[in-house]
Amino acid sequence: MCGIVGYVGDRNAVPVLLQGLKKLEYRGYDSAGVAVYSETDGEVVVCKAKGRVENLENKLYDHPVKGRLGIGHTRWATHGVPSDVNAHPHFSSSGEVAVVHNGIIENYMEIKEILQSKGYEFVSETDTETVAQLIEYYYNDCGDITDAVFRALEKIDGSYALGIICRDFPDRMIAAKKNGPLIVGLGEGENFIASDMTAILKYTRNTYVLEDDEVAVIYKDDVKIFNLDRQEISKEVYVVNWSIEAAEKSGYDHFMLKEIFEQPKVVSDNLNHRFKADGTGVYLDGIKLDREVLKSINKIYVVACGTAYYAGLVGKFLIEKIVRIPVNSDVASEFRYKDPLIDENTLVLAISQSGETADTLEAVRLAKRRGAKVLAIVNVVGSTIAREAGDVLYTMAGPEISVASTKAFSAQVTAMFLLTLHIAMESGRMSLEEFREIKHEMELLPSHINAILSQAPIVKRFMEKYIDSKNVFYIGRGLDYIVCREGSLKLKEIAYLHSEPYAAGELKHGPIALIEPSTLVIGVATQQELFTKTLSNIKEVKARGARVLMIAMEGSTETKEFADDYIFIPRTHPILTPLLANIPQQLFAYYMAVGLGNDVDKPRNLAKSVTVE
Ligand code: M6R
Repeated sequence: MCGIVGYVGDRNAVPVLLQGLKKLEYRGYDSAGVAVYSETDGEVVVCKAKGRVENLENKLYDHPVKGRLGIGHTRWATHGVPSDVNAHPHFSSSGEVAVVHNGIIENYMEIKEILQSKGYEFVSETDTETVAQLIEYYYNDCGDITDAVFRALEKIDGSYALGIICRDFPDRMIAAKKNGPLIVGLGEGENFIASDMTAILKYTRNTYVLEDDEVAVIYKDDVKIFNLDRQEISKEVYVVNWSIEAAEKSGYDHFMLKEIFEQPKVVSDNLNHRFKADGTGVYLDGIKLDREVLKSINKIYVVACGTAYYAGLVGKFLIEKIVRIPVNSDVASEFRYKDPLIDENTLVLAISQSGETADTLEAVRLAKRRGAKVLAIVNVVGSTIAREAGDVLYTMAGPEISVASTKAFSAQVTAMFLLTLHIAMESGRMSLEEFREIKHEMELLPSHINAILSQAPIVKRFMEKYIDSKNVFYIGRGLDYIVCREGSLKLKEIAYLHSEPYAAGELKHGPIALIEPSTLVIGVATQQELFTKTLSNIKEVKARGARVLMIAMEGSTETKEFADDYIFIPRTHPILTPLLANIPQQLFAYYMAVGLGNDVDKPRNLAKSVTVE
């Protein structure tokens, strides 16, 4: 939601903070700021700017600040409009304490009123300023910043990742975490805090991943970690294996394009070592989902948000079709409030790229409280959902920086294929012959994706033809309909175009009234057994003047005959098509967004990880 970075060491903190904030900008980008302890002034100096980190950088160029201790923040507004004054870091009244925060303080109004009654004056509309003021309030009483932070945390309800510095303690920063990601980066003679690894990868790969209710006091040569009972605890150092290139654009115009083109490798990485050497099944990193466990499961539930949810729907479709176990599905924000029908005989599949999405995390917690078995399918190693779920299957997509999820979706769908095959084989629902046929087709997927990617220039030309579209319909049946939902989400998200995904057969029950001459309809028709049905729906919209762009299987003569434009995907097993049919949609959304002049990697109003409700 927001990005936090902090530094203590011998370098000038400002460039470290700015570089870190640029890497974290995908988490929020409506304002940014830094607070740095200036040794010359003996003060904490703050600089904040509405808009992108670039604006902050320009401001700092005009009014340079220097210091060896600092915290920085890039914001996605929750309380108060994006503005200089609402941007973080927030100061306490006397300028003693500066705070950056990711999350929501739920009882901030109550605390604010108490502090106001004691004479504290507030300048912003944010919940975070309350934290800075509350810490100062306790600091004035006890004279120790660490003690003051602990006392403030006792009063705060809500979610937070906090970075705190204090004018009287220029040798340290303090970090605290509850329901928001925060890591401590361990350097030599310097240490860091960050919302995620990308911000500090240039300096270190060694980290402590903070757990909820942990507080870290970070000096340049030492890090002490405490629980909320103020007992010091020891933690294992987690070494990150991402390369720096993985977090760079590497010559691509946008992270999204780079991530789209990484998909052959991502799928291949996800398949490597997943098939048992004797060709009899799937190996899932020691996940406890064998014949015995499966016998005790009578229902599966898929929970996730956004793109991850659509990947989950692919899993639901396949498990029901092949394994014949009922699979329910809900977006996590509904699941967590609906008193879902789950118990100890339910397997909950929680899917998340970031592993930090607040709704999905709460869904996991609810499922665990009800005794369900929870399997998380997560990309970010060591993330909260990964740690809290009973079992975790990592999707190995590498860092996904662009807000629009692309390679993570392909990795999640690949995980769904593998999971379906695993359950099918363990429960005796699939013959060895069929398994081997699908396995063979899966191993061809990376080269099929490459073949589709080589058609990117054709998709770009479609953009030039359809750039004037105001409404776009995506229609398909079965698995193709799920692909349509993901394609439509992507177009909305980055091209800011209104679009509707519709089950093709449902169109005539109302929405066809919206089809008028020149409406763009994207028809996805990769399922042979449903092809003629979908084609008849396509003929219906064509008859009403729609322009039709089709995604279909290679060599389909009817597609050539009826579509205005088409893109073919290589022939594969029918259950595997979602992975391939989605790629042209990603490219189409990408080129439309570029054509419309939008900020592809940082679309308006959005943030990469939604760590608030
Ligand atoms: O990190 P998660 O996978 O849990 O995120 C879920 C959604 O917020 C995410 O997929 C969102 O819909 C994407 N921006 C879509 O491209």
